[in-house]
Amino acid sequence: MPVIEPSVTKQEIICAETPGEPCGLVVFGASGDLTRRKLLDSLFQLYLRDLLAEQFYFVGCGRKPLSDDDYRDIARQSIVAEGAADEQVAGFIERIHFVSGNYDDPAFYEAIKTRLTELDEKFGVDKCHIFYLAVPPTLYGTITDGLGGAGLARPSTTGKCPQARLVVEKPFGTDLESAIALNDRITRSFNESQIYRIDHYLGKETVQNILMFRFANAIFEPLWNRNYIDHVQTTIAESIGIASRGGYYDQAGALRDMFQNHMLGMLALMAMEPPTSFEADDIRDEKVKLLRSIRPIDLDSWTASIVTGQYAAGTVSGEDACGYIQESSIPRDSTTETFVAARLFIDNWRWQDVPFYLRTGKRLATRLTEIAITFKNVPHSMFASVGLDEMPENVLVLKIQPNEGINLSFQAKRPGSKACMSTLAMNFNYSDVFAAQAPEAYQRLLLDCMVADQTLFMRQDDVEVAWRLLTPVLRKWAEDRTEPYKYPAGAESFSEADALIQADGHFWRKLLQK
Ligand code: BG6
Repeated sequence: MPVIEPSVTKQEIICAETPGEPCGLVVFGASGDLTRRKLLDSLFQLYLRDLLAEQFYFVGCGRKPLSDDDYRDIARQSIVAEGAADEQVAGFIERIHFVSGNYDDPAFYEAIKTRLTELDEKFGVDKCHIFYLAVPPTLYGTITDGLGGAGLARPSTTGKCPQARLVVEKPFGTDLESAIALNDRITRSFNESQIYRIDHYLGKETVQNILMFRFANAIFEPLWNRNYIDHVQTTIAESIGIASRGGYYDQAGALRDMFQNHMLGMLALMAMEPPTSFEADDIRDEKVKLLRSIRPIDLDSWTASIVTGQYAAGTVSGEDACGYIQESSIPRDSTTETFVAARLFIDNWRWQDVPFYLRTGKRLATRLTEIAITFKNVPHSMFASVGLDEMPENVLVLKIQPNEGINLSFQAKRPGSKACMSTLAMNFNYSDVFAAQAPEAYQRLLLDCMVADQTLFMRQDDVEVAWRLLTPVLRKWAEDRTEPYKYPAGAESFSEADALIQADGHFWRKLLQK
């Protein structure tokens, strides 16, 4: 009889994914890019993985006067465009419906309500509705008022979870005041326990692995502090430009689009204290505490803390690329930043005086997201031929995307009679170990909404503390009419961004790694 390792069996039980609860998912902005490119395909993948309840239906909502069949065609094409075979899609498509109307018209919400009552009956759903706002943020308040007015937002008085849930895409506000105002408006109809603010980076497997890596291994935590860590570099580099999102992006810029949410979210997971449990609020409490400890950015000598750039024409992966201000729908005199690099400090016992360098930019040399932790050097070199300053530090790299994995560099002796050393790497690649490809972040996040798990969603205090840090910077940029430096599309970096880190004697890690 084969012997089954008890730990393997236990892991398998723990790892079995919980299917979504019976529910109706209502998506506003159903013909938009996000729904067509991400949401429909993610739902379809959940369907293929048997993770959608039998009693699940989808209602697309939008201004276009489309019938169910019209919208099913759009949905089918979108899913097939992501690689699905036409014949696989049929069973899923039957669950899709459409309601059209104007967002500011109360009759629209009454029509949605009538449709949900019919569909609840047909699919056997007990009034559990998830409302997903895949629309521009200016419509959030109008829609939540409409849902509230029609009685669709009310929390349940029974059970663990409120029946109605609201999923809100980023950006949540454009600064501290607008984030607070938006929250006040939304909470007229929905309370905090019903609101799921998406930061899709938190849905990425390798971002979640930061927690597992730190808190399921005893060997790293004793080193995870100012005594052993010299500095930390977090990078989200993109080779793409702004594609067709110029209207939104020019108002947002890299600080609002990537830094306020994805960059600070990753920083918080990397640097926070151990939560008391894996429960949503315990993790979110620690994240907020960490973000609150970030030292305010010094606005008087602030080029030492934050540098911005904007891509000019150049070459990305051998292809010519236009500059940001040559992109269609971007004003020729736009001063919106497409790159931000910052040097932050965390004022707490663990991290005092450890610089955290963060950078994100569009149209850089390649696509790369990673957190690189550089350890302090040995205190003394006993190898006469190698001075301390020639001894490379150990670097631990959490590789978020692409080529997900973990890499640790260390020194080893080269074979031979002399005491020569080489820097080697211990490399773990997800793709070598786990056969299945990591599911797209939206699958995980949609499933979490369906089981009412808010762990990977931002709480309002999380959003506010991030804006509290960045709003003074945005104001100062506006007052001083700060212009970003230009960098050629396809660059790895540029001199002003280099100066930020070189002032401390460090260098940015190469984006194009061998
Ligand atoms: C989005 C930003 O949140 O993240 C985009 O709005 C950016 O500008 C995207 O391109 C990057 O996400 P990913 O998952 O491709 O790294």
